[in-house]
Amino acid sequence: MEEKALLTINGKNYELPIITGSEGEQAIDISTLRKLTGLITFDPGYANTGSCISTITFMDGEKGVLRYRGIPIEQLADKSTFVETSYLLINGKLPSQKELNGFSVMLNDTSLVHEDMRHFFSNFPRSSHPMGILSSMVNALRAFYPEIPERSEQEELNLTVTRLLSKIRTMAAMSYRISRGHSVVYPRHDYSYAANFLNMMFETPVRPYEIDPDLVKAMNVFWILHADHEQNCSTAAVRLVGSARVNLYAAISAGICALWGPLHGGANQAVIEMLDEIRQNGSNVGTYVARARDKNDPFRLMGFGHRVYKTHDPRAIIMKKWCYKVIEKLNISDPLLDIAMELEEVALKDPYFIDHNLYPNIDFYSGILLRSISIPINMFTVLFAIGRLPGWIAQWKESMEDPEWKIQRPRQVYIGLNERDYIPMSERKDK
Ligand code: COA
Repeated sequence: MEEKALLTINGKNYELPIITGSEGEQAIDISTLRKLTGLITFDPGYANTGSCISTITFMDGEKGVLRYRGIPIEQLADKSTFVETSYLLINGKLPSQKELNGFSVMLNDTSLVHEDMRHFFSNFPRSSHPMGILSSMVNALRAFYPEIPERSEQEELNLTVTRLLSKIRTMAAMSYRISRGHSVVYPRHDYSYAANFLNMMFETPVRPYEIDPDLVKAMNVFWILHADHEQNCSTAAVRLVGSARVNLYAAISAGICALWGPLHGGANQAVIEMLDEIRQNGSNVGTYVARARDKNDPFRLMGFGHRVYKTHDPRAIIMKKWCYKVIEKLNISDPLLDIAMELEEVALKDPYFIDHNLYPNIDFYSGILLRSISIPINMFTVLFAIGRLPGWIAQWKESMEDPEWKIQRPRQVYIGLNERDYIPMSERKDK
């Protein structure tokens, strides 16, 4: 029997359909609510609002489950590569060997960045945050790679998708090199996606960069774990901006801007800054936990808490394992890792954190991993953006192909002044 929700407003009953997802989660379909009742719903922060139906990513925040196209994140982190996972997210299936080879060839062919774009990079002030540079440069890609009418829609889409995936990595490394005053290193056809990135970042004419397969694997894991997270802030931004039918570069550029925020992708940078501050102030972890639970102190423990996960973030569990692996492999000792471990231990036993279901999220460990690979702190969120790109693309594509597609346009409850007259300047009084 079809389930319905019964809504009573001023004694009048309305039946609203209930839709059920493939994993059993349910939603009241209110798409006809305003037409039927004249009322809208009020849900600041959208914590109770499903903005779309989707086949891409499933997450269960109570049980700590994350799957892309049905496949658990643990299996992908263990067995897949970022390129293969990108294909899976965007095309909805794991590629055959032939399809994967074709995809890799396209990524390789589109990996160079238009030489004229280098002038743009050189002209940003040295102090610019790379996320601001990246969002501008991704938006500028449309100007350098306009649509060619002779190409079919599918060809154009495939090319745009591979250009984005491939060039974002080249541009990220390029912006780092230029910011350091170093020469740009070009991508190599004989290196994998992640190996190429590390090489473009760290190769110098006087010291060749040795590719370490464990670091390559760590980069793949980092990107796979970030590749999609259903309707988070930046993905919602990509869908919303995309719903106005802008080109894909512009929609992705909007996602990068949203990701920049410290409550979203910027948290990995904020975690390292917080850990470093704790270290400089004598490593007194308890003081910071006490500050985090003090209602009169705006301080929050960065890397703790999540809108959806009310248990351990499954990505954080894998990331923690890789932090230890890389640190051990490189034989480095990081005092910030020690502080992080102590912080985690204290916070997880603290009644405030227990009551509020606050657990470490992926950003708590990802910064430590990147730091051990020598990625500079202001590049952390850029690396998150590279990882999230296939998810943004898949979500944008799904929304474009949705037969129920509409431009996204929320409503509001107005609480401002009622109608009043304009007062001429001569009659206005200084207070
Ligand atoms: N430290 C201390 N308290 C925290 C907290 C943190 N990191 N995160 C949430 N809380 C508390 C809030 O103060 C609030 O307490 P109250 O109900 O007693 O007022 C409660 O937990 C709910 O927080 P809220 O901000 O409403 O949850 P949210 O779902 O809107 O926010 C985050 C989720 C991620 C934005 C939030 O947990 C946060 O700011 N975390 C730190 C930043 C971070 O790590 N971001 C990366 C996310 S992957």
